[in-house]
Amino acid sequence: MAEQPLVEAWETARDKRMRPLQVPGHKYRYSRPDPALDSPELAALVRDDISLQGGADDNYLRSKVLERAEALWSASVGADHSRFLVGGSSQGNIASFTAIGGPDVQVAVDRTSHRSALAGLVVSGAMPVWVYPRIHPDLGLPLGLGPGSLDGLSPAVTAVFATTPSYVGTIADVAALSGSAHAEGRVLIVDQAWGAHLGFMPGRGAVELGADIVTTSVHKALMGYSQTAVTSVRGPRVNAERLDRAVDLTATTSPSATLLASIDATRAVMETHGPVALERAIASVAQMRVRLRKVPGLVVVDELELDQPCDPLKLTLWLPRTGVNGSVLAEALWQRGNGVETADTDSIVVTMSMLDEPDFCREVADMLAAVIEAQRGPARVPAPAALWHVVPDVVVSPREAYFAERRRVPLASAIGEVSAEQFCPYPPGVPLLGPGERVTAQIVEDITQAGRIGRVAYCGDPSLQTIEILA
Ligand SMILES: Cc1ncc(COP(=O)(O)O)c(C=O)c1O
Repeated sequence: MAEQPLVEAWETARDKRMRPLQVPGHKYRYSRPDPALDSPELAALVRDDISLQGGADDNYLRSKVLERAEALWSASVGADHSRFLVGGSSQGNIASFTAIGGPDVQVAVDRTSHRSALAGLVVSGAMPVWVYPRIHPDLGLPLGLGPGSLDGLSPAVTAVFATTPSYVGTIADVAALSGSAHAEGRVLIVDQAWGAHLGFMPGRGAVELGADIVTTSVHKALMGYSQTAVTSVRGPRVNAERLDRAVDLTATTSPSATLLASIDATRAVMETHGPVALERAIASVAQMRVRLRKVPGLVVVDELELDQPCDPLKLTLWLPRTGVNGSVLAEALWQRGNGVETADTDSIVVTMSMLDEPDFCREVADMLAAVIEAQRGPARVPAPAALWHVVPDVVVSPREAYFAERRRVPLASAIGEVSAEQFCPYPPGVPLLGPGERVTAQIVEDITQAGRIGRVAYCGDPSLQTIEILA
């Protein structure tokens, strides 16, 4: 197995059977607690928890195992500098904006980005200039920013924030985006939350393709603990010290070495077994597509269908011609114990990984085909999800709106007002309305409709009856 310094430090700490006179409060002994505190559940939950500071490393972090593990990640994906995160790609996105932003900075941001981009705008104070991915004319799904998406930007825009792969697995041409951004003297930030595996595929990772800052979730396409992510920087355009400061601004001072070591272990596994395991998983998912393409009316959203790069591990199915409603299909799958990544009326999105064996992939494809047959109905008119199509009327910056005086009014009577909060169908976590944007009749309808289908998150009134507007 490849070198894995943080994993080794974690194992050493575990084997030492420490009796610390410091945190963590569970003292590494919860598995044999005082009977008065007995909780087998808690014992199982904290059994493997070892802190970084005063655990896998000393209080002064003198052994520098975390830095060594981060350097090994950088070497693997071709970055100059990387930081391990336990606050997910959300933390990485917020840190990326903070590393390049400030209240006077304008950033072109893909409007189909995750809500953490909005959080990055609030924290940094940067002003978004929203840019829009190409949308498939029939399927209504985002295809990713193209270089044309950046046409006509003011020279005052100093950075571009792109999300690729998208939630539905479509992949933007990062080499072209970085070429056009750099030609205009701009920094390219890529939210590659869904594409950590691409970083281990030659010629596919955003770092290798020229992005300046890339954030990737290790817990999504790869095998890290929930919450784990990495932000990497490459090239001369972003000051790595600024990124460090931004990561430190947004990070806990008590990270779990267990979570961090799972990033190190994932990288070591990918270096040792990644090529073979990825090839097998990609072939299995390709077979799933072949099987599902035989289902009458079903559109398998992939490279063959779209004639552009797509995530080989994401399976997005477009359903209107089968008459099946994606949300109803997803509910049936959830009841069977097969939760899917996201669903709306027209589509469902399935995430496969290297841990899904070929037999399981075959079973899933057969099962999906059978459930779609069971729910089949007459072909219906597509009802594309509104969140891929929002073109907001920005009145003030997200930060100004976030900190402004606000008042709560009925949603229906807020038309024409400026929102102080965000409304975000989750999943996929792409905002329909953000702070500082004008409330329109269309947006009110879209929010209400999204609430009928699923959960609209991050607004103060989950019943969606009211909204906070700028006072
Ligand atoms: C595109 C995108 N970026 C960032 C995030 C946030 O990732 P995390 O859950 O690791 O914080 C998500 C979460 O779904 C996402 O879809």
